[in-house]
Amino acid sequence: MNRKERRAANKQREGAARRPNALAIGPAAGSLADLAAAASRSHRLGRIDEAREICRQILAREPANVQSLNLLGLMAQASGDHGIAVKMFAKAIASDDMNAACHYNAGNSYKALGNRTKAIVHFNKALAFGMHDKATAFILQSPAIATYVARIAGKWPLPVTNVELFGTESVAPLANDLFLRCAMEATTLPSVQLEALLGYARAELLRLADGRDDDDGETDDDIVAFACALARQCFINEYVYAQSAAEGGLAGALRDRLLRDLASGTAITPLLLAVVAAYFPLHAMPNADALLRRDWPVTLAGLLRVQLREPLDEAGERTAIATLAPIKDSISLQVMRQYEENPYPRWTINPLTAFAADLARGRTGPTAEQQAELDILIAGCGTGRHAVQIAQVYPNARLLAVDVSLTSLAYARRKTRELGLRNLEYAQADILELGSINRTFDSIESVGVLHHLAEPTAGWRVLVSLLRPDGRMRIGLYSDLARRLIVEARARIAAQGYSASAGDISRCRQDIIREAEHWKMLIGANDFYSMSGCRDLLFNVMEHRFTLPEIAAFLNDNDLSFLGFEPFDDPTVIEKFHKQFLDAADEASLDQWHRFEEAHPETFCGMYVFTVGKNAH
Ligand SMILES: C[S@@+](CC[C@H](N)C(=O)[O-])C[C@H]1O[C@@H](n2cnc3c(N)ncnc32)[C@H](O)[C@@H]1O
Repeated sequence: MNRKERRAANKQREGAARRPNALAIGPAAGSLADLAAAASRSHRLGRIDEAREICRQILAREPANVQSLNLLGLMAQASGDHGIAVKMFAKAIASDDMNAACHYNAGNSYKALGNRTKAIVHFNKALAFGMHDKATAFILQSPAIATYVARIAGKWPLPVTNVELFGTESVAPLANDLFLRCAMEATTLPSVQLEALLGYARAELLRLADGRDDDDGETDDDIVAFACALARQCFINEYVYAQSAAEGGLAGALRDRLLRDLASGTAITPLLLAVVAAYFPLHAMPNADALLRRDWPVTLAGLLRVQLREPLDEAGERTAIATLAPIKDSISLQVMRQYEENPYPRWTINPLTAFAADLARGRTGPTAEQQAELDILIAGCGTGRHAVQIAQVYPNARLLAVDVSLTSLAYARRKTRELGLRNLEYAQADILELGSINRTFDSIESVGVLHHLAEPTAGWRVLVSLLRPDGRMRIGLYSDLARRLIVEARARIAAQGYSASAGDISRCRQDIIREAEHWKMLIGANDFYSMSGCRDLLFNVMEHRFTLPEIAAFLNDNDLSFLGFEPFDDPTVIEKFHKQFLDAADEASLDQWHRFEEAHPETFCGMYVFTVGKNAH
């Protein structure tokens, strides 16, 4: 469930709790929402027959009711009747084919039935349709994984040996966890425990691959598939896992063996290739394209696509990107180098699937504004996640997305092409120089960008000059109050002399993990779990932070009016805001928000994201 769904479910639950007689009156008399809440509650309380009966009553009134079909499937699953369960989930999916929970549940039952192909299809859909955000929590619920995590924790901060951790089974139980494999291929997995476990699993695979000199290539297919999934996970997180010097030496030796075998035409086992790819990106190896000329088993197809074909595509995209405005400013050049080395964010899943699902279900129709033929500028688009989102919400708009980093833009172009979006043009440009392009826009979005400029307000003023008279601007800026811990971490990093090299970032992360209690907020941030994210979070070459009075002063000086903050994920923020100011509460008052933030400094820990409009004259 996402936050919105959780909120809706809570509301339903509260509603049911306020109506203690709802069940006594007779379920058939209630609304479908009441009945669904009653069914969930009975299920939660273990009153299975009652829950089943209510689901049947719901289905008598609405045969395709997704929630009831899913619940009946879950109850069948719990009683071991996976044949019935998959039928229920299939019916639910027939009515709502983008329902992540139903796909996840179907995946589990297909796995129990031994249909691994179908299980993988459903797990992949669950991840694509929104479950990727909570994959880690589901993975950690697995009893086998919980056992490994406990073994690691039992010896922490000392390391466990691979025998202590994996016993005689090696990584077989992990390799058999299909959801883990799908999740490793799909997205970063923000969990210190999982990272530690997968780090040990990688070292164990290295040991296996190294010991297979005389192997006839017959390693269990599940182990190879697991190694491929782990290699894809390492590629997504940009090899952020720590490794000992001995492990690094062994991995380097294995890579050299791969290169020798590649040059001499000697056979290379799939396990060897996959394990090397878990330590080094394949596309960066000399003679990497020779790997594509060999025949490989189908298990390796996904790995070869992400580590060889897609980077090759991006190299092609790079040459097609025009430069609209030069990069001359020395800070812009340094920032460009950072994002050339570590384009950010390395997103994998279309950010708008949930929105598309709601549109498809007819829950939300596009608004007139979303249908309009607007000109939109995305200033500092990075790898395009944000631009792709906007291009889908505004299908008739013409979007120009600019960034200083060509590597980021190439990633963005490849993803945009894969999604089939045609209303989006990318170009290289420094925001500071955009005044020279002689174009204006109805809407400008610059989120997480201006605070990386030498003079953020100079860049912001350039953007204001490109905005049409009744245009809107969506801006995201770091909050000074919210980022105190980041400031402390940056000071610590400077004092310890850590550079922004991959090795230093990796070592610094381990220091932070050792003091997890103190750095809780950092460890809780998704960005902590990838190299580019961690660099963006803690090692940025330039970071300014703002206060709300400073933002208010800029708006005042530039004839802009504040139109509101982005909706908060946490619904209690608005409640607390109104409680603080009572009848005088004014959500458009930056002064009140400033006072609120002083009392609740964590409110804008992501950043301030808000919309402003040009004042009419
Ligand atoms: C933290 S990333 C944010 C990317 C994107 N807005 C997002 O939210 O996913 C910051 C991006 O701003 C870009 N950037 C920084 N300074 C810039 C400048 N002066 N002109 C254009 N882009 C810039 C960087 O290259 C980087 O891709």
